[in-house]
Amino acid sequence: MTIIRPALEQDLADILYLNTHSNPHPWAEHHFQAALDNNQIQVFENNQQIIACAIWQSVLDEAELHLIITHHAFRRQGIAQKLIQSFIQENPHIHKILLEVRENNQIAINLYKKQGFKQIGERKNYYLFPIENALIMEKKC
Ligand SMILES: CC(C)(COP(=O)(O)OP(=O)(O)OC[C@H]1O[C@@H](n2cnc3c(N)ncnc32)[C@H](O)[C@@H]1OP(=O)(O)O)[C@@H](O)C(=O)NCCC(=O)NCCS
Repeated sequence: MTIIRPALEQDLADILYLNTHSNPHPWAEHHFQAALDNNQIQVFENNQQIIACAIWQSVLDEAELHLIITHHAFRRQGIAQKLIQSFIQENPHIHKILLEVRENNQIAINLYKKQGFKQIGERKNYYLFPIENALIMEKKC
């Protein structure tokens, strides 16, 4: 059985595991604790295992997608798309979603384009380790 739901404190270890093992550019642990405290993490649970997560931040009618990770063993099954679609369905007051993505992360760029995001800008040398430009993408909802 699959379910998309807000993350709970007891999910933190599974989310950190995802971050370490399925995110090529892992975030520091304290960012996840802060996102959890602010109720910004959605998880995708499959048979009681957390196999994907997304971190969102909303202000009024705008949201930002900060991070999305699918466990490497469960990729290309539409899970990331479902996480994005679920957020949009559950937040009808959101009219614009913004995100930044490494310009070489073609898989993520494909995902976002498929979900209707368009590139609206670029930030030079935005990322470190390695230094890389960010594409700024936007979706109107
Ligand atoms: C990006 C990521 C979240 C996609 O997760 P996913 O659950 O596998 O994605 P989906 O199955 O929903 O794929 C949706 C679309 O993304 C694109 N995509 C996904 N995997 C792809 C691949 N291996 N090659 C090319 N395009 C791909 C396709 O357009 C796909 O649609 P399609 O399968 O109908 O062609 C996952 O690859 C991941 O966790 N990557 C590491 C973390 C990361 O880079 N996150 C994004 C930046 S924060």
